[in-house]
Amino acid sequence: MRRGAIVQLALLAAVIGGITTAVAVIPHWLPPSAAEQADRIDFVFWYVTIICIVIYAIVIATLVYSAWKFRVGPDDDSDGPPIHGHTGLEIGWTSIPFALVTSMAIVSAIVLARNDRTGSHPLRINVTAQQFAWTFEYPDQKKLTTNVLRLPVDRPARFTLRALDVIHSFWVPEFGQKQDAVPGTTTHVTVTPNEVGTYPIICTELCGLGHAVMRSTVVVMTKANFDAWVNKSGKATGGGGAAAGKAVFVNNGCGGCHTLQAAKTTGKVGPDLDKLPDYAQKAGQPLEKFIHESIVNPDAYVEKPYPANVMPKTFASLPKDQLDALEKYLVASVKGAK
Ligand code: CUA
Repeated sequence: MRRGAIVQLALLAAVIGGITTAVAVIPHWLPPSAAEQADRIDFVFWYVTIICIVIYAIVIATLVYSAWKFRVGPDDDSDGPPIHGHTGLEIGWTSIPFALVTSMAIVSAIVLARNDRTGSHPLRINVTAQQFAWTFEYPDQKKLTTNVLRLPVDRPARFTLRALDVIHSFWVPEFGQKQDAVPGTTTHVTVTPNEVGTYPIICTELCGLGHAVMRSTVVVMTKANFDAWVNKSGKATGGGGAAAGKAVFVNNGCGGCHTLQAAKTTGKVGPDLDKLPDYAQKAGQPLEKFIHESIVNPDAYVEKPYPANVMPKTFASLPKDQLDALEKYLVASVKGAK
């Protein structure tokens, strides 16, 4: 009789555990991992989830079994038998959860510590976040800057994050980690990508009107392709001309907020740059002067119905050659479009 009860209870627990496991496994709750750190975080996730499923199955099976087997009859008004404590059970249900929760804490601490290890030769990358764009600088690759992040596979990348205006947060779901960029301080995160591919970079801290479009892309490439890209880009950023101006436009993320046909951008947060000649006319200024002023002192004239105080004032501190190249590029682009 007692043996039969245990078998029934075990069967019930197995069925409940099976259903719960299916709910945990089948919908793919987590994005596919593309970094060593994400693999470790996935391990912690599954370690905790499996413990939860086992305990959940035992508790629910006992509950269902008790309600089913020990249900009172409709005319049974008697009290239940008096029950005293069971020392063995109490020790069990105190010590087992204690051991499990402690093991979760230890596993998490080990993963956190290992995820922060950079190795002796990380690729250093300075991340600048501002409304509403990401800029990535490679200090050891002749200060190469880009707004599309490129990483070599299987090498730890150590990010140093800064914010120029408000709090932003750097997130690549496939890398498994998020890190805030906070004005006035620097923060760090380490990523060792282990799958070649292209993944989204998402700002995951509400940072203003353009928060939803503050996105970029990370391309994880083989070491050979990464080195080739570094070589090629190092040469392209020198010199003047339209290519330099376009590089400044792209690297500063202008297209995140502005439409400009010449750069194939379609941002809608700020004014449509293809209409710059019209805006300049309304502002009563020559085109060149209007463009310069709109970059360094963006609130001097704001095209309606776009709100003021949205465009960052930080572009006034661009190096003069970059600013000149950008202005010439914009003038040429809108004149060419007419
Ligand atoms: Cu930057 Cu949200």
